[in-house]
This record gives sequence, C-alpha cells and structure tokens, in this order.
Amino acid sequence: MSESRDTSQSIDEICERHNGKPGALLPILHDVQGQYGFIPRHSVAEIATNLNLTRAEVDGVVSFYSDFKTSLPARRVIKICRAEACQASGGRDIWNAAVVAAAASGGSVEVEAVYCLGNCACGPSAQIDDRTLGRLDEERIVALIAAPGREGDA
Ligand code: FES
Repeated sequence: MSESRDTSQSIDEICERHNGKPGALLPILHDVQGQYGFIPRHSVAEIATNLNLTRAEVDGVVSFYSDFKTSLPARRVIKICRAEACQASGGRDIWNAAVVAAAASGGSVEVEAVYCLGNCACGPSAQIDDRTLGRLDEERIVALIAAPGREGDA
C-alpha cells in the first residue's frame, strides 16, 4: 500500500517540476518513463489532473510516440535497422533470425524495428544499449540475443 503512495508522490513531483512550462507534457512523460521504464496506466490520470488535461489527451500523446511504452519492456531491447541500406545488405535475414532468437529468450530480449541508425555503410546494423553495431550476420545476432553482454567481443 505504501508503494502506491510513494509512486503517486513521485509522479506528482515530476509534474510539479515541469508544471507551468510550455509543452510540459512531453518532458513529464519522458521523466515518468525514465523512472518506471514505461508509462504506468495510473500515471495517465495523475498527469492529466496535474496539467488540467483530459486522460484522452494524455493517452493520445502516449500512443502517438512509439518511444513511449505502456507496459514494462523486455529486460533488453535490441533495435534492428530495417531501412533500405541495411535491407540491401542482408537485413531481412538478420531480422528474421533475431525474431526467432528473441522468441526463444522467454521475454528477456525484445526485438524492435528501427529505420536507419546512421550506420548505413556498415549494415546490417543494430543497436543494443545505445551501442550501434554493424556488419551483422545471422550467427552474430543470434549470439548477441543469447548472450547480450558479449556484444563488445565481436
Ligand atoms: S539503413 Fe540501416 S543504418 Fe542506415
């Protein structure tokens, strides 16, 4: 019970820090997600109350931006580039192998499609923990998903 009270205070504190500033909703949502890893359902109502918005308005912004998550993401997210240059250098095979490997991880790894990581010349590319990796092949992406801590070795 005290946990939810603490959480509630924290969201209020986040709102208070930004309230009154123009465009406060996005920084509030980023801070809430930074703290919880996603936008908890109950926080939408609290944010709406704090900013004198409707829940639908806050929900609309949360659902518009794909960076906002409404549930706790998998322990690790691997972003795989699906844009043209990477697709032309084998990105489709990397993606397919990664999806199968992520499914076998039991939810500890999630694969997310992104469209260009700015590493086109070294494609196919992926990003793990804000590190961009290039020249991937199926074997390497499967190994990264199986043992994500080893990406620096390759
Ligand atoms: S197309 Fe994949 S990094 Fe640019």
